[in-house]
This record gives sequence, structure tokens and C-alpha cells, in this order.
Amino acid sequence: MELSGLKIVGIGHAVPEKILTNQALEKMVDTSDEWIVTRTGIRERRIAEKENTSVLGFWAAQRAMEDAGIPKERIGAIIVATCTPDDYQPSTACRIHQLLEFANGQPVMAFDINVACTGFPYALTVANGLLATAMPDRCILVIGAETMSKFVDYTDRNTCILFGDGAGAVVVERSMEQEFHSYLSAKGDDTMFRIPGAPFAGEHAPSLISMDGKSVFKFAVESIQTCVGHVLEQAGLEMKDISYIVTHQANRRIITTAAKKMDLPLEKFFMNIEKYGNTSAASIPIALDEMKRQNLSRPGDRLILVGFGSGLTLGAVLLQW
Ligand code: UT7
Repeated sequence: MELSGLKIVGIGHAVPEKILTNQALEKMVDTSDEWIVTRTGIRERRIAEKENTSVLGFWAAQRAMEDAGIPKERIGAIIVATCTPDDYQPSTACRIHQLLEFANGQPVMAFDINVACTGFPYALTVANGLLATAMPDRCILVIGAETMSKFVDYTDRNTCILFGDGAGAVVVERSMEQEFHSYLSAKGDDTMFRIPGAPFAGEHAPSLISMDGKSVFKFAVESIQTCVGHVLEQAGLEMKDISYIVTHQANRRIITTAAKKMDLPLEKFFMNIEKYGNTSAASIPIALDEMKRQNLSRPGDRLILVGFGSGLTLGAVLLQW
């Protein structure tokens, strides 16, 4: 069966005002700007002081809807990729639904998906399926929103330098012209990266992020290679057909190592990690919005979006502007 693709008709992002620089982190833990920049490429990140995940997601969604220039009545679903929701319930998507003030009686699905840093490729794939089946004439808001800082241990130099907060959103609609290919996978493993919430029976939950950085690094580099290979093969395309690869922004060295292993020029990879750090599910849509604002891609250009992260999860989509 030939499935249709999707078209991004609007895009936007939102980040908190507060900037946490490497210099500020030097005063908090035994680290240095030089170490952080060399090992990760990060210079600063945004930290939510008042804004929660749903508010950042709402702002990004508003901007994406303004950019799309579509009336609210066309929205048929809100999918939020997040691993740092405001609450277990209501979902972040329902909170955003409330803030968007849809008319009474308008049917709008709203749900979160928790796929950590791979959330955006997963959410786009779910949206593509819904557009092809349940709501071919509607638009879907796909949002990646996170407040990672809630779970960061600011006494742990191994992790506190990495993460930031933010949200990115797209409005997508069904398209018979645009290509869409997706490769998603998971490999259950809680030893490499964990954000504890509900503790296992008999366990005291440490409430903050724990991570085996070296193993995650290796997994990330392998995931980029695997995912890009799979979507290209599925699409019957070659790397020369792709304008940009936009990976989850976790560490500049992860991207440079993957580029080297794939024998690709670094210019093929968009990066903005320097300004935001690792914003988990938000990093890909924030990067996409910045690319658009910098006029880096033209209508019809093919992009591969790649995520990898906790779960473990990995996935990519190949789509066209
Ligand atoms: O979305 C997925 C989330 N996670 C990730 O993306 C993380 C992936 N992993 C990484 O990005 C890297 O593994 C890190 C940036 C976390 C660490 O870089 P690394 O090159 O793997 O460093 P390392 O863990 O091997 O540590 C090297 C040294 C250690 O000191 P010793 O044992 O050699 O004396 C660390 O204690 O660097 C030390 N170190 C630091 N030094 C200064 C670790 N963190 C810091 C720090 N400042 N912030």
C-alpha cells in the first residue's frame, strides 16, 4: 500500500529567557568552559525558571500555527513528545489543548508520547499515520517540549553541563507529493540513561538523571549510522539526494564522529547545540525552525531527522520541506 506523506506547513520554537553559561557552571561544579566546549560543543543553555513544559510547548505551537496561517478549526490532533511533562496527568498535550482554547465541540485528539530524545521522529511518524487514515483533511500539531532542568543534578558535573530546556513545534498536513519514510526502533535498557519517576518495588528513587555517558555516546554514534542507512534504503535514495541531516543535538562530538564514520562532510549536519545544549525531544524541531529562519533549505529539499536516546530508543524520518 502506498502511503501519502506529510508537509510541514508551519514551524516555531520557544525557549526560556534565562541563559545558563559555561562560565556560570564553572562556579557551580569543578568544570571549565574549555572542557565543556571541547567535549560537547555547548557554550550555553536555556533554563526554565517560571515556564513549565506545557507553556513552552504552547508558545512554540502558537508560533507554528501563526507561521502556518491556518485557523484553529483545522487542527485535528496535538501530539507532544516529552519525557518531562508537568504532571503524569493531565498530559502535556491536554494542557496545551486547554491553553489553545479550541471551540467547544471541535474534535481534537491530544496525547503525549514519551520516547525521550527520539520523541520527534516517533511523533512525526504517528502523525503521518493519522493523516493517512483517521484525519486526512485536518492538520496535526507535533510538538517536542522539555524542561530537562527539573531532573538535572546540578552537583554532578558529568550531566549538569549537558541539558537545557525548550520546545519546538510543527503543523503538518497530508501531502500526496511529499515523501515520508520512517525507521523506528527500541532496545530496552535502563543502565545507560535514566530519569527516575516511579521507583521500582523496594527501590529508593533518586530523583535526578543518572547516565553512563560513554555508553550513550557509543550508542548515539551507532544509531545515527543505522537510522540514516535504513531510511535511505527504504526511500531508494543516496546521500547526494539529501540536503541536511538534522540529528538530536546531544553532543557536537557525537555528530562529528558519526559524520567521520559515514565519510560525510560536517556541513551535511545542521548544528545549534552551542546555544541550547541537549533539549531532548525539543532539539530537532528547534533546529528545524532555526534552519528555516536561516534560509538553509528550500521547498522540496529532503531532510533526514535522526533521534537517539533513553529507552533506549532510536529512529529517523526522511521528509521533504
Ligand atoms: O540524549 C542523550 C543524553 N546523553 C548524552 O548525550 C551523553 C553522551 N555522552 C557524552 O556526551 C560524553 O560521554 C560526556 C560529555 C558526558 C563526557 O565526555 P567524555 O569524553 O566521555 O568524558 P569522560 O566521561 O570519559 O570523562 C573524562 C574526564 C573524567 O575525569 P578522569 O576520570 O579522567 O579524571 C571526568 O571525571 O573528564 C571528567 N569530567 C569533567 N571534567 C570537567 C566529566 N565531566 C566533566 C566536566 N568538567 N563537566
